[in-house]
Amino acid sequence: MKFFIDTANLDDIAEAQALGVLDGVTTNPSLMAKEGITGADNIIAHYKKICDIVDGDVSAEVISTDFEGMVKEGEALAALHPQIVVKIPMIADGVKACKYFSDKGIRTNVTLIFSPGQALLAAKAGATYMSPFLGRLDDISTDGLQLIAEIRHIYDNYGFETQILAASVRNTMHVINCAKLGSDVMTGPLSSITGLLKHPLTDSGLAKFLEDYKKGNA
Ligand code: E4P
Repeated sequence: MKFFIDTANLDDIAEAQALGVLDGVTTNPSLMAKEGITGADNIIAHYKKICDIVDGDVSAEVISTDFEGMVKEGEALAALHPQIVVKIPMIADGVKACKYFSDKGIRTNVTLIFSPGQALLAAKAGATYMSPFLGRLDDISTDGLQLIAEIRHIYDNYGFETQILAASVRNTMHVINCAKLGSDVMTGPLSSITGLLKHPLTDSGLAKFLEDYKKGNA
């Protein structure tokens, strides 16, 4: 399973990259605003900075909601850097734009997926990635992981190549369960990646090894 980090924070991106396990980055307009990145020029400059830090795919989201606007924005974003993947919302014009980009060989990430039907549409439109938001489903007392399982089943039935990018991941258990279900990618905050490191038996085991080494080599 690929690990993407879901942030526009350059320090967090650099920390995950330094760990050596990062495969890409997802951003969205809210994450950009959280970092105080506003205005088209600053946003574009920020995408370039992110691409300079990571080796993998970087999702950059369009703001337009009509087909022509998404095509114009998406083409400009894709031209910024070969690592850019155009992120498009799951609406009718988004599906049309996804098909347009797919026919042109421009990679896409269809976002805001909350049902198997939406996932099926994204795959039929040739999306490279599509992002089911599991945490937001959990937030409304719906089983987000069940959606990942259903999409995996549907995609496997037909051999769809669209990658399942489990999004809105909030914690390490989400990451582990996504891996169990065969999600192709997960995207979450830095803590969802670094949290995987932690186990008290690792800490106490290492402390004992070092203590015993000291005793034997005093
Ligand atoms: C997906 O690409 C989104 O950026 C993201 O995962 C949303 O997560 P949230 O529900 O934690 O805001």
